[in-house]
Amino acid sequence: MTLIEQSLLERLHPREVRFFSQIGSTNDEALDWLAKDATSGSVVVADEQVAGKGRLGRVWHTPPGTALIVSVVLRPSAEYLSKITMLGAVAIYDMVKGLGADYVGIKWPNDVLLNGLKVSGILPEAIWENGQLVGVVLGMGINVRIDFSDTPLAGQAISLETILGRHIDRLDLLADLLGRIDYWYEHLNTRELFETWQSRLDTIGQTVRIQTADKEVVGLAQSVDHDGALLVLNAHGQVQRVIAGDIALG
Ligand code: BTN
Repeated sequence: MTLIEQSLLERLHPREVRFFSQIGSTNDEALDWLAKDATSGSVVVADEQVAGKGRLGRVWHTPPGTALIVSVVLRPSAEYLSKITMLGAVAIYDMVKGLGADYVGIKWPNDVLLNGLKVSGILPEAIWENGQLVGVVLGMGINVRIDFSDTPLAGQAISLETILGRHIDRLDLLADLLGRIDYWYEHLNTRELFETWQSRLDTIGQTVRIQTADKEVVGLAQSVDHDGALLVLNAHGQVQRVIAGDIALG
C-alpha cells in the first residue's frame, strides 16, 4: 500500500474506499462494485483517469495529480433518483464556497462554475434490474490544478488553484466533499435540497440554446421543475420542458 493510499483510507475510515493511482473510469469501477456488494457511501477515487466519461458521451481527460476524481455509490429510493444530480451540484458548490471563492454558480443541470467557468463536472449513472433501482454512482471531477491555458478549453474551464491562488490539498477536499454529500443525502427528500439547487442556478432568466438528443430548444430559461427539468419559453410563447441536453447561452 502506498503512503497516499494509507493516509486516504485512515482519513476516510470507516467508509469503504477503493483508491487507484491510475484507472480507466472511476464510474465504471463504482458501477461494477454497485452491481456486486458496495454499500451506500462507498467511494472510488483515482489520481489519474485515462478513459473518464463525461456527459453526452464525451471524454473527461484527467492527467495525474491535477484533479479530484471520485465516484460515490448511493442507494436512494427510485422516487428520489432525479435529486442525485442536484445533490452533487449543491455539495460541490458548498465545497467551493467553503474554500473562500466569491463567484460560484450552477449551470443547469449540474456544472459548477467558478468565475463563470466550469470547475467541475458531474455524471450520475444508475443501475436498474427488473424495473427496480439497484443504485446510482455519482461521478464527480473537480479541476484542482489543471492548466487550461493554451488548450481548446481555455475560456470554458478553470481550476480551483488558478482562481484561489493557493495550494489546495485534494485529500482535504475529498473529506470535505464527502461530508457535504452525506449531509445532502440525508436531506434528499426535503424541499431544502431542491430550493437550494434552484436558487443557485445561473441559467434561470437567461436566453438559452439547448441541443437535446432530437431537437434544438431556444428561448428564455424560465424555471425548473421538481425533477430538475428546465422550462424554456420559446419565441412562439410555448413552454418546452427539457430533461437533458447541451446548453449554451445566447
Ligand atoms: C461532464 O461532462 O460535465 C461530467 C464529467 C464527469 C467526470 C467524472 S470524473 C469521475 C467520474 N468518472 C468518470 O468516468 N466520470 C466522472
